[in-house]
Amino acid sequence: MNLICLSLVKLLFYLAHSPLGSIVLLDFQPRQFVMVDGNLKVTDMDDASTEELSCKEDKDCTLDFPTKSFPLKCSALGKCEGINEKKNLFNAYRYFFTYLLPHSAPPALRPFLSDILNATGDLRYGINETLKAFEKVLHLYKSGLYLQKRPLLLKDYISLKGFRTVEGEDYKCWPSYSHLGCLLSVHGAEEAAAICNSQAQCQSFIITQQRTWTGRPLASFQSSLTDLIPDANAVVYIKRSASSGKRL
Ligand SMILES: *[C@@H]1O[C@H](CO)[C@@H](O)[C@H](O)[C@H]1NC(C)=O
Ligand SMILES: *[C@@H]1O[C@H](CO)[C@@H](O)[C@H](O)[C@H]1NC(C)=O
Repeated sequence: MNLICLSLVKLLFYLAHSPLGSIVLLDFQPRQFVMVDGNLKVTDMDDASTEELSCKEDKDCTLDFPTKSFPLKCSALGKCEGINEKKNLFNAYRYFFTYLLPHSAPPALRPFLSDILNATGDLRYGINETLKAFEKVLHLYKSGLYLQKRPLLLKDYISLKGFRTVEGEDYKCWPSYSHLGCLLSVHGAEEAAAICNSQAQCQSFIITQQRTWTGRPLASFQSSLTDLIPDANAVVYIKRSASSGKRL
């Protein structure tokens, strides 16, 4: 689940409902944002405005981008309705979502992210719906609900309780949390087994004590199982096809 996209949506929600009115970011480039303690911040609020475009009629309210235009309504107060919020949201779509969303979740959750991508790309969602949709995906992700219909894959693994593997350099995978090997966040052993099954090099895995910001444990995937060391709290899962002929 992509932390940058979620933080960005929370930031845009805040800007849309700020005490000063709806704030538009005039220079919406990735370099305008920094991550501070897991939250996205705008580096320079001088490039922001609360002014909403004035209008006499609807045709004064076209929101133009290089690839697309959106006709908006002129309100009774003579302001283009929601133009600041919509401008931020479409910029978030074109600079962030299109690059970051498609690969940022387990396959079962990707249809939800495609829907968000489609709805923001056509500005069918406002910022409220976008935030709600992100929170729904996050909820499914954290709770592991999306795993419900999976077959039981762990039966293809032998579990050795009381052991762990030595963490050293091993095969790489994407998007690994470690540059030394393949370290991915999972809901539990069942999801880790699904990942290990999908990677030809993977022969074993352990669920580590480390966790991501969403509270999901990190699993370390390995291509060999040479060194097992005793660890009362750990379990090593070994692919059945890999266990024959190896001395354990
Ligand atoms: C959203 O989906 C519709 C229907 O499939 C498609 O016509 C439209 O181009 C999509 N929009 C974006 C921004 O992907
Ligand atoms: C969006 O959410 C804000 C804050 O919860 C609320 O004040 C506002 O009325 C909502 N806007 C729409 C269009 O639902």
